[in-house]
Amino acid sequence: MDALFRKYDVPAPRYTSYPSVPDWDEGAPSAKQWEWNVLKTLELDPNLSVYIHLPFCEQLCTYCACNKYITTNHTVESPYIDAIEREWMHYAKRFQQKPMLQELHLGGGTPTFFSPENLHDLLEKIKRHVEIAPNVAMSFEAHPASTTLEHLVTLRELGFTRLSLGVQDVSPDILKLINRYQTLEQVRQVCRQARDFGYTSINFDLVYGLPRQKIENILATIDLVRELRPNRIAFYSYAHVPWLKNGQRAFDESDLPNAVEKRSLYETGKLLLLSMGYTEIGMDHFALPSDELKKARDESSLYRNFMGYTAIKSANLIGLGCSSISQIGDFYLQNVKGVFDYQDAWKKAEHPIWRGHHLTAEDKILRTHIQNLMCKGFTSWRNPDNYTPFIEKSVEMLQPLQADGLIELEPFGLRITHLGDAFLRNICLAFDARHFEKDRKIPTFSKAI
Ligand SMILES: C[S@@+](CC[C@H](N)C(=O)[O-])C[C@H]1O[C@@H](n2cnc3c(N)ncnc32)[C@H](O)[C@@H]1O
Repeated sequence: MDALFRKYDVPAPRYTSYPSVPDWDEGAPSAKQWEWNVLKTLELDPNLSVYIHLPFCEQLCTYCACNKYITTNHTVESPYIDAIEREWMHYAKRFQQKPMLQELHLGGGTPTFFSPENLHDLLEKIKRHVEIAPNVAMSFEAHPASTTLEHLVTLRELGFTRLSLGVQDVSPDILKLINRYQTLEQVRQVCRQARDFGYTSINFDLVYGLPRQKIENILATIDLVRELRPNRIAFYSYAHVPWLKNGQRAFDESDLPNAVEKRSLYETGKLLLLSMGYTEIGMDHFALPSDELKKARDESSLYRNFMGYTAIKSANLIGLGCSSISQIGDFYLQNVKGVFDYQDAWKKAEHPIWRGHHLTAEDKILRTHIQNLMCKGFTSWRNPDNYTPFIEKSVEMLQPLQADGLIELEPFGLRITHLGDAFLRNICLAFDARHFEKDRKIPTFSKAI
């Protein structure tokens, strides 16, 4: 097993999209030309998911690979909300009838950096232009140290029922190393208050593979899970991408666990979670049996989009805010990353698209296979609609994975074995035609293990 972990510890995407963002082949000029088509497509489907990126954090967590802007100056909130409103209106005015909001997620950065009043103002601006689906899923990312009772009450009144708490690890020495200050008591208090005020679902974000993280740190973190029983857990593999994120240069790389040590951190956490009644949902995700992700996994109706695993299949996803990605029809579009570039463009009524991709027929077929593997653990190309000649290369690339016992190849498909669960990103790589087109001279993706 250790030999397999060493063998398959190669750079690979996480496949929240296919093609992965670095493999999109169109820069801003063509992406801007598509806008008309994108907006036309948007009108065709009444169902909508919305993601809003709120990039501010008061303090830099050095492990963080997300797009954020560090400041303690809260005057940044209002101009940013103004820009989001302009972007939202750019889309909302296209609809003849109000679209049906199925899913809304506030991500970051730290959404709870914003005052409850400003979050209220932002959400009212969004909600004015949509109908709300009866089973809408509204969630936000929350830092235990900055989530107040007022945040919880305001967001609950606005319709949010899930919060995703950034717990990461509970050990003070690890938290100090990643420059993150929060106490166990803060986590307990936010969970208690959220439940008291009617939130029906709590997710914990945990990370394994952090610098100097040992089995005892994972045990302590899972102890808190046992005590607070969140409905869902995202148990992320630490993505070390110091060429993209300067904060990670603060780590001494010799402090990072190697592939075998890192995997044993995951396996330890996983066994404990399973023993406590959680089910592994897909890559790095767990849920209690009562959670809809578990039901969706059992019924083969689980999906994966830029926001992660979801039980809701919404045709179009609009991403608002700097660095946000929209998935509309056959198009992906990403906004510029910089907060001020984003705001300045909207002041001039310009949509600041950074890059995008128009999916080809082959992309769509390969995306289906990658989605199937990520969400169901098997895929099939028996139906000619799911076949493209690249599959012949996939089958060739999959032979060694079959020999290593990670998959069972069938005449027109494949099934991931129990052993193969740990190598999901490597298995998906075989369907990633775009990945192999590129001669990567510079590092792009974090390692698969
Ligand atoms: C956008 S962050 C929001 C966290 C929130 N601001 C907080 O402080 O709790 C979402 C999640 O991404 C995960 N994450 C961030 N950087 C990561 C990395 N380098 N590797 C793995 N997961 C990471 C963390 O678990 C984090 O909670």
